[in-house]
Amino acid sequence: MAIALHAFFLQLILFFFASLAEANNPRKIYLVQMKVGGHRYGSSSGHKELLGEVLDDNSTVANALIYSYSESFTGFSASLTQNERQKLKRRREVLQVSRSRNLKLHTTRSWDFMNLTLAAKRNPLAESDLVVAVIDSGIWPYSELFSSDSPPPLAWQNKCENITCNNKIVGARSYYLEKEHYNVTEEKSVIDVTGHGTHVASIVAGKEIEKASYFGLAEGTMRGGVPNAKIAVYKTCWKILKEGKEVSYCPEHKALEAIEDAIKDKVDIISYSQGLPKPIPIHKDCVSWAFLRALEKGILTSTVAGNSGMNPYAIINGAPWVMTVAASLKDRFFMTELELEEEDDSIFVYNTINTFQTQDSFYPLLDETSPDESTRKRALVAESKDSAITLNHRNGTTKDVFFNFSQTILDKAIEERVQGAVVWGNFSENYALGKLQFPIASIFLDKEKGSDLREDLAKPESKHSVKIHKTVEIPPEEGLEPTVADMSSRGPNCDRFLENILKPDLAAPGVDIIAGWPENVNLLPTGTNDYRHLRFNILSGTSMACPHATGLALYLKSFYPSWSPSAIKSALMTTSTEMAQSGNEFDYGVGRLNATKVLDPGLIYETRHQDYIDYMCKQGYNTQMLRSHVGSHEIDCSGTKLDLSADLNYPTRTARVDINTKFTKVFYRTVTNVGAPNSTYLGEIKFQDEKNFEAEITVEPKRLHFDKLGDTRIFTVNVTGESKPNMYYKKSFMTYNTWLTWTEMDGSRQVRSPIVIYSITKSSHACRKFHKN
Ligand SMILES: *[C@@H]1O[C@H](CO)[C@@H](O)[C@H](O)[C@H]1NC(C)=O
Ligand SMILES: *[C@@H]1O[C@H](CO)[C@@H](O)[C@H](O)[C@H]1NC(C)=O
Ligand SMILES: *[C@@H]1O[C@H](CO)[C@@H](O)[C@H](O)[C@H]1NC(C)=O
Ligand SMILES: *[C@@H]1O[C@H](CO)[C@@H](O)[C@H](O)[C@H]1NC(C)=O
Ligand SMILES: *[C@@H]1O[C@H](CO)[C@@H](O)[C@H](O)[C@H]1NC(C)=O
Ligand SMILES: *[C@@H]1O[C@H](CO)[C@@H](O)[C@H](O)[C@H]1NC(C)=O
Ligand SMILES: *[C@@H]1O[C@H](CO)[C@@H](O)[C@H](O)[C@H]1NC(C)=O
Ligand SMILES: *[C@@H]1O[C@H](CO)[C@@H](O)[C@H](O)[C@H]1NC(C)=O
Ligand SMILES: *[C@@H]1O[C@H](CO)[C@@H](O)[C@H](O)[C@H]1NC(C)=O
Ligand SMILES: *[C@@H]1O[C@H](CO)[C@@H](O)[C@H](O)[C@H]1NC(C)=O
Repeated sequence: MAIALHAFFLQLILFFFASLAEANNPRKIYLVQMKVGGHRYGSSSGHKELLGEVLDDNSTVANALIYSYSESFTGFSASLTQNERQKLKRRREVLQVSRSRNLKLHTTRSWDFMNLTLAAKRNPLAESDLVVAVIDSGIWPYSELFSSDSPPPLAWQNKCENITCNNKIVGARSYYLEKEHYNVTEEKSVIDVTGHGTHVASIVAGKEIEKASYFGLAEGTMRGGVPNAKIAVYKTCWKILKEGKEVSYCPEHKALEAIEDAIKDKVDIISYSQGLPKPIPIHKDCVSWAFLRALEKGILTSTVAGNSGMNPYAIINGAPWVMTVAASLKDRFFMTELELEEEDDSIFVYNTINTFQTQDSFYPLLDETSPDESTRKRALVAESKDSAITLNHRNGTTKDVFFNFSQTILDKAIEERVQGAVVWGNFSENYALGKLQFPIASIFLDKEKGSDLREDLAKPESKHSVKIHKTVEIPPEEGLEPTVADMSSRGPNCDRFLENILKPDLAAPGVDIIAGWPENVNLLPTGTNDYRHLRFNILSGTSMACPHATGLALYLKSFYPSWSPSAIKSALMTTSTEMAQSGNEFDYGVGRLNATKVLDPGLIYETRHQDYIDYMCKQGYNTQMLRSHVGSHEIDCSGTKLDLSADLNYPTRTARVDINTKFTKVFYRTVTNVGAPNSTYLGEIKFQDEKNFEAEITVEPKRLHFDKLGDTRIFTVNVTGESKPNMYYKKSFMTYNTWLTWTEMDGSRQVRSPIVIYSITKSSHACRKFHKN
């Protein structure tokens, strides 16, 4: 139930759509992944030829073929019958045929919080030379947020569908859905009718707008992380009709088309706030491999960890070559008061946003779920007709409704424009999920507060009348620690090829983010009766965290245009701030992004494209598959010695070991000097909890000296211990976690990254399900 409620709120607040099947068409859309080399069907004409050989009599290649990829994927997408699919699967040139799955869309003082202030040192000219690809639901181009004084980069080829490119939006392409397969309810246009894409794009690169607020809340200057950078829009998410409901749909085969174009367009970074609803084995995750191809061209991808909440093994987008971003809280907290007539103590909650002014008077409260049949009946009658409301209510005023959670009741309450709603649900208050809000005055009570209210109402002297106050902002010291949000998906990965890579990589603000919004789109996804329109909206989710990491990466790139994707990612990671309290690295990676030191990371961990390939080979990845994923017939793992302990030159160090065994794990790392030419660093291990720490960790050498910039040094970290379950951590699979910090002797540079050794104590249900995929 907790999970169900959780999911319900995600859907409500975070555009987290339930899993959907496509329309009833005998043909379905498949991704056909080809093998590389050894056959003549490699090109787009080859794809047509192959299709021609397998199609049923009554279909034509022109009808069946959707797209032939060249940059992002080895193969094509096509609309196929079961019979055709089977024939294709049997072809020796074909590696795998899979359904195009739906990817889900998973918000400012958040930049100040990360210390990327308006006054921060900037390189505006270089910044305006950078283009971010936002693969999402399109854009609302009419906002001031999307204007700029600086021209587009010289080498950039403008291409804008439907809208006129300007100095901010330098590209706009759309990937419309096939009408035979989807009941698309929006016309083909890059204009955002959902809001998600606009919100995300403005977080990365929105121009400064003063006095932005959400009905007076969160007031301040709204802006993106790199307000001079340019935006290229790639629209892959569309509204479709599914079981009578309008939902957002973002199929994989469209994402692959968009990534293909982003690579050809030579964007500087991809911001991808989407992902599969749950993790799947890496060999089936075509979109993740497309990002490796982008990386080969120097393009980093910043993406989401997912919004599936507190359970481990839920992380998505876990490939080592992307930057996987978790959502954290920031320093902005909201409080809402429920005042009871003739009661001294009000009820205060921190999980609600109520922008409606209802504190002028008290309104009678009716219990929608009262066990007393007569009361309930009256309440229901009262709700159904305006006249009845008048009849049933003292002084002819409208009423508040008190109910426990039900979408139907909510819809009715909104439809009948009741004065407000007090919602009592089975959710915890420090949920850190993003604030709950309805398009009417409302307040959300957890179990305990709901019970308090019920008790008060039961008193004979109770007036049964309440006031819901408008939400106010409270000082940070009265709020929560900036920890990771409950909704953010947790690692580790079940996939054997990814289990030794710490994911998520890092955390960025993702709760209650105010950013741009299309003025013609409802502010809340619930109910059809929210008629309010505004240029800004407050949203929560890893979808909002990801563009923060994208923005900071571009900020860094504006100073170091030649840095590789892995260098940029390494700098963001090793200069982040340790997370304050509860949880562990599988919740937030290295910690929370912080711009303070990002321009001067000192040392970086470089990982080259070839390193990822070598890593996969050593781990026993199949050559043929790897060739196809990477799109190169030169790959050959057969000469590579199998080495399951093989590791990447990753900023973090993670190993899964068997439970209750003695283990020794040696990590080899190479660091590159980007700090002071003549510098020396000392390696230090931090024990997070000395009492529980029984492993022995040595760093060799303990001292690294560099003579010049670009120098590289190799070191090893040797962890020896026994993998006993560590109950100190909520997740009992965690065995040891600590930090290695390289500190410069004569400077303040610190290069900090975690060491995580873990085991799985119980054979995890989540992983068993995963492996059945
Ligand atoms: C309420 O949530 C808790 C966990 O958060 C769960 O154990 C319990 O079963 C839930 N109760 C109901 C009635 O859903
Ligand atoms: C679109 O919806 C209509 C009505 O619900 C249905 O009859 C039709 O089959 C659907 N089309 C597709 C392609 O699913
Ligand atoms: C194609 O023809 C087969 C019979 O030959 C039939 O079963 C199938 O429904 C047809 N498909 C389409 C899309 O018309
Ligand atoms: C948007 O542009 C595309 C491609 O040029 C075109 O097919 C489509 O009709 C346009 N949509 C609108 C609403 O003008
Ligand atoms: C919600 O309503 C149901 C049915 O009316 C009741 O059994 C349940 O206890 C209520 N839950 C809360 C939290 O009031
Ligand atoms: C409102 O109702 C209360 C009790 O029902 C009554 O005492 C009071 O006079 C009424 N006020 C007005 C303005 O009708
Ligand atoms: C960012 O880092 C600085 C110093 O490095 C620290 O004072 C500040 O609290 C950090 N901010 C956050 C939000 O972690
Ligand atoms: C924020 O960063 C600037 C440098 O950009 C630095 O001077 C300042 O001390 C930092 N503030 C905090 C709180 O870390
Ligand atoms: C490098 O720095 C050390 C310590 O500050 C100093 O003793 C040494 O002379 C420097 N070497 C060069 C080549 O500048
Ligand atoms: C790691 O440490 C263990 C125990 O001290 C030792 O036996 C082993 O040789 C070390 N390995 C390396 C590569 O340093």
